[in-house]
Amino acid sequence: MCGIVGAVAERNITAILLEGLKRLEYRGYDSAGVAVLDNSGELHRLRRSGKVAELEQAQQQEQLTGRLGIAHTRWATHGAPCERNAHPHFSGDDLAVVHNGIIENHEALRKQLKALGYVFVSDTDTEVIVHLLRHKLDEFGDLTVALKAAAKELHGAYGLAVVSAKQPDRLLAARSGSPLVIGLGMGENFLASDQLALRQVTDRFMYLEEGDIAEIRRDSVQIWDANGQPVARESVQYHEGAEAADKGEYRHFMLKEIHEQPKVVQRTLEGRLGDHQVLVQAFGPEAAELFAKVRNVQIVACGTSYHAGMVARYWLEELAGIPCQVEVASEFRYRKVVVQPDTLFVTISQSGETADSLAALRNAKARTDKEGRYLASLAICNVGISSLVRESDLTLLTQAGPEIGVASTKAFTTQLVGLLLLTLALGQVRGTLAPALEAELIDELRRLPTRLGEALAMDTTVEKISEHFAEKHHTLFLGRGAQYPVAMEGALKLKEISYIHAEAYPAGELKHGPLALVDADMPVVTVAPNNELLEKLKSNLQEVRARGGELIVFADREAGIENGEGTFIVSMPHIHDVLAPILYTLPLQLLSYYVAVLRGTDVDQPRNLAKSVTVE
Ligand code: M6R
Repeated sequence: MCGIVGAVAERNITAILLEGLKRLEYRGYDSAGVAVLDNSGELHRLRRSGKVAELEQAQQQEQLTGRLGIAHTRWATHGAPCERNAHPHFSGDDLAVVHNGIIENHEALRKQLKALGYVFVSDTDTEVIVHLLRHKLDEFGDLTVALKAAAKELHGAYGLAVVSAKQPDRLLAARSGSPLVIGLGMGENFLASDQLALRQVTDRFMYLEEGDIAEIRRDSVQIWDANGQPVARESVQYHEGAEAADKGEYRHFMLKEIHEQPKVVQRTLEGRLGDHQVLVQAFGPEAAELFAKVRNVQIVACGTSYHAGMVARYWLEELAGIPCQVEVASEFRYRKVVVQPDTLFVTISQSGETADSLAALRNAKARTDKEGRYLASLAICNVGISSLVRESDLTLLTQAGPEIGVASTKAFTTQLVGLLLLTLALGQVRGTLAPALEAELIDELRRLPTRLGEALAMDTTVEKISEHFAEKHHTLFLGRGAQYPVAMEGALKLKEISYIHAEAYPAGELKHGPLALVDADMPVVTVAPNNELLEKLKSNLQEVRARGGELIVFADREAGIENGEGTFIVSMPHIHDVLAPILYTLPLQLLSYYVAVLRGTDVDQPRNLAKSVTVE
């Protein structure tokens, strides 16, 4: 989604701003721009629709230089993705703003500002901010005071960076609903919507909190909180992520991230397994007491994270004996929900900034006793400094490291690991999971990274299989039990990055409709671990073959499904059935990756998608 970079320094900062934008490209965007104050005190702007590379090309010709500036990658929400709507937005020729988020009262503000004589040249909600700020600046004379006054009139979500030619000593920032981080240098300071953008210039950061306004100068940072009181925010040293911004030997971040899974699953398990039990305190000091009271679990998430929640429902009900509901956040947040007593509210998110998931959490927390409160909230999240984590009672951090590819891979498998740990912890504390089964699953979890490595060794086999899909337009994915959400995740991956229409069904539903679609042009991908549903699944596969459908089956090596005409088997290492959803996800990720490569799509930044969906 949109990205912000800003800098105030003694040296020329244009290259720093552009490099910062490149590091944010993974978030998804459709235009980019930069504004720099030159040494004679004039503010210059360059904007391009399309990629940062085009902005860089323009910069090679224009050669903007300066010591104060802001830059932005825009993901269109209000107004088409074009140069006119790209940020920075100006009021006059001396005041510039970049903005992440959405201003909900932009129409009313636009009307007021037009009545005051302001002329609008874009269709964006952001332009009201810069004119409102100009209006306040004319009233108060000081940029910081003007920003504090303007912020009071803005409703909605924003992360803002502001510069003015009239007050060239400062870069201003405001946060409400969109993350911002200050990068601390020696005699120079920076701003970004994600610290990854600034890893080239510093490893010391200060995270703004909700409602904060910051005045960032070369040699000082001053922050005011939501009540307008001066506050000190802690500065932290950040070590993670340096290697994540680099593809290393891999052609794409997605492939690198797929291959990182044994390592990051190992990391997610570290410090959380006792000899025969999950360490319940991994969920926080108060977890054991809280978990003992849980009688029901409500999971809310989006996209891939939602699929992880769907797998968890099978685990929670079967292993811990706890009723569980799972719902996509965009629906849940607007529904009148009946809360069962003693329900644990669980959100799952890679980024921890997904607007719908955050809103669902906030709604859940705002419930009154009369409506039925949730017992507590738990976030399973990959970003420790995210809003979701900060606003939840309990947290389990997945240790996937920064995920750059828009298509989520290692975040999903580490979420599954986190959810299985939650299942075991709840079963253990409530006494609903037999200690012997918990011990068996702990051993299996310890072996999981090795199993995942074995699955990845099938890389070239899967690459070969991908040729079946290169010319296809539609596919079906089938699974039964906990493998049904795995099939859903496989279908999501394929459509996201190869643009092939893919749908997932529980295999038993085939004859209730989708079988009508099956013919020689519709490959059917199936995940078939060796479990009690295998025989039923085999019958479903016969139904496909009888209609001339081509089958690609990822099957346990002891499943007894043979290669044959129109049936292609990829033999999988044997694994405990409970852990099978984690293992069987990997070949599906590889399959979609290789199909996308064959079709020549932009694998890491698929069209129309953003890494972190921070608007509704
Ligand atoms: O950051 P989150 O896990 O909350 O993101 C949720 C979805 O936007 C995300 O999983 C999306 O579906 C991915 N593109 C899937 O690959």
